[in-house]
Amino acid sequence: MSDERPRSDALVFFGATGDLAYKKIFPALQALVGRGRLDVPVVGVAKSGWSREQLVERARASVAECGGGLDPEAFPKLAALLRYVDGDYADAATFVKLKAELERARRPAHYLAIPPSMFAVVVEHLGQAGLAEQARVILEKPFGRDLESAKTLNGILRKVFPEEAIFRIDHYLGKEAVQNILYFRFANAFLEPVFNRHYVENVQITMAESFGVKGRGKFYDETGVVRDVIQNHLLQIVSYLAMEAPSSTYHEAIRDEQAKVLRTVRPLSVADMVRGQFRGYRDEPGVARDSYMATYAAVRLWVDSWRWEGVPFFVRAGKSLKMTCTEVNVELKNPPPVVFHEPTPSVGNYVRFRLSPQVVIAVGARAKRPGEGMRGEPVELSVVEEPEQGKDGRMDAYERLLGDAMVGDATLFARQDVVEAAWAIVDPVIHGPSPMYEYEPGSWGPPQADRLVAEVGGWNTPQ
Ligand code: BG6
Repeated sequence: MSDERPRSDALVFFGATGDLAYKKIFPALQALVGRGRLDVPVVGVAKSGWSREQLVERARASVAECGGGLDPEAFPKLAALLRYVDGDYADAATFVKLKAELERARRPAHYLAIPPSMFAVVVEHLGQAGLAEQARVILEKPFGRDLESAKTLNGILRKVFPEEAIFRIDHYLGKEAVQNILYFRFANAFLEPVFNRHYVENVQITMAESFGVKGRGKFYDETGVVRDVIQNHLLQIVSYLAMEAPSSTYHEAIRDEQAKVLRTVRPLSVADMVRGQFRGYRDEPGVARDSYMATYAAVRLWVDSWRWEGVPFFVRAGKSLKMTCTEVNVELKNPPPVVFHEPTPSVGNYVRFRLSPQVVIAVGARAKRPGEGMRGEPVELSVVEEPEQGKDGRMDAYERLLGDAMVGDATLFARQDVVEAAWAIVDPVIHGPSPMYEYEPGSWGPPQADRLVAEVGGWNTPQ
């Protein structure tokens, strides 16, 4: 099933002189133009006292530094599409100027690449200026700080935009490797029969980053790892791993299943979480000297669905860890040891999805070791092995998502009920106090996290 949706006839982005625009948006725009997916006016809005020419120069520097280089064909076309409106977001006059700049555009997409504290004022002004009718709004996480504030934010948006016009970016959904979890699961007959409590021992997701807070100390110290990546990126991955087969690829069919499965995940308790903070975090600029914000968390989730009852899903994420790598490991149960009488192997059958820095899908198995006796050894069948997107001309997540929003395809965007279901899971632990363990930068986090996985033989640590 698919439906006819009109294309947006202009892209407005608030925060045009900011960091996100520089690192992600201009490169995505150049790539969209290069593929012929963007040929409508692109209006940057900011309060920097800039001219259009300065914005074009900023775009040029951005694509050179962050976009894999200036594309001699696409960049001049992008530059010709760029417009600039300078003004305060709290001033109605800014939106009058914006309306004039939009000229004949009737269905703009407004991208809020600005801090969440500014969302309300911009959205209200868009409504008052008559710029919201038939328009779309694209916004970036965080969608609130907890369940209640997420609902408040949504209330503000919904006063002006209907749900189908709201595109909430979780850039993980734009990653090819994340979409491949969904595809690989439901496109292969061999996998689905074993993807359940009868065969799966446990599921582990590790999102490790070897860097610290990279100059984002103030933001991070108000956010912490659970709000930054677990509530959104990693729970989206959990939903793709655990959901039932959608009835089609129609965007609401997929998002219905995500919402359904996340609602079956038990809200976290302190006993199912270990938090950590890397040594030196409190000396980072912008971080409170007595900060209790976690830069690492490991959680044990229980998906109380028919399919997954009793199968623990372990999720861990952290900054300043040993390496940068995001990986999913679905470990299958051991076969009965009645034929080969081997000691229980430490590595058995599994399906591994590496999401970054490379994209890998691999199946772990055991094969007989050459020689006398029936002794086995672990082998791995690598099904897919590719560089990450954006590295060899593949579509980067932002390119994919902005392009999709412009044509109204919401599949890879977070729907409000999915966002709320995810907040309901983490809400009990983001407010309540829980112990905090210091860990060494460059380690795998606090050793106390090992207790969560003691029963399943430890963490499947990415190599
Ligand atoms: C962002 C977080 O959403 O995702 C960052 O705010 C994190 O803290 C980043 O580093 C990771 O994204 P990626 O695409 O580099 O894995």
